[in-house]
Amino acid sequence: MNQAAPFEVSPLTPSLGAEIMNVGLWNMDSFFGEIYRSFLRYKIIVIRDMPMSHDQLCEFSARFGELMELPYIKPVEAYPKIIAVQKEVDETGMGVFGGDWHSDFSFLAAPPKASILYSHQIPPLGGDTLWVNMESAYGALPVKQKNWLEGKYVIHTGAPYGVANAPDIETQFQGSMTITRNNPQADRETRHPAVCCHPETGNLALFINPTYTTRFSDMSKAESEPILRELLSHCTRPEFSCRFRWTPNTLVIWDNRSTMHYAVNDYDGYRRLMYRTTISGEPPLPATS
Ligand SMILES: [Fe+2]
Repeated sequence: MNQAAPFEVSPLTPSLGAEIMNVGLWNMDSFFGEIYRSFLRYKIIVIRDMPMSHDQLCEFSARFGELMELPYIKPVEAYPKIIAVQKEVDETGMGVFGGDWHSDFSFLAAPPKASILYSHQIPPLGGDTLWVNMESAYGALPVKQKNWLEGKYVIHTGAPYGVANAPDIETQFQGSMTITRNNPQADRETRHPAVCCHPETGNLALFINPTYTTRFSDMSKAESEPILRELLSHCTRPEFSCRFRWTPNTLVIWDNRSTMHYAVNDYDGYRRLMYRTTISGEPPLPATS
């Protein structure tokens, strides 16, 4: 790396995501303010070619806020704030962790602010991650629909980890990750605003996702289903998305409050090993607070 090279941001798509160049652990103190502003602006930031130990990953992650331990997923030995997101060569014909659109742990009373994923080993092709910008998706809705949604609350549950809403066994990802299933606690319902106000930027975003959002709080599942389906179809339009192809030793930091993401499960027969930290958040704020 050229030590004299300036801080540089290269957007990934018009909607969201940016790669940050010419930064490393050696100059992080000087540039972290700009990195954080880029995180708020672009929602996903990418830093390539930054090999990191577990200690360095924890230290870097803590710049964004307090690291949290995750429910239902066993952490890395001796590092309670890191999980390994892992799929092995022989784990074929099965689901993958994060393999549907979601915002991380949105069923918690205080969902994470941000997640950080670091690529250790990736397949030669495949294993991309997609994100969508939930602020752009919200902004593109007709005014009437925005007004209706701004007064609504939705119910989130830890469906993939619970009993009542647990996925079929053949679509569950277990594999080499230790994930606790059939936990009655995960069925507990949490109520969040359907449209949330970002606590740092004040921007409004839809806060629903098909993995954890089950219904509107004042409607049945059956009544909610067609509305949620239509909204999710709108949110995942390519115009609001970014598809990211990993290279080894890459860090991606995303804002969990204004995006959804999706892990593409298209690399059977190859190993993929990532390390993930998660930053604590606050209870989501309604649009009209
Ligand atoms: Fe995720």
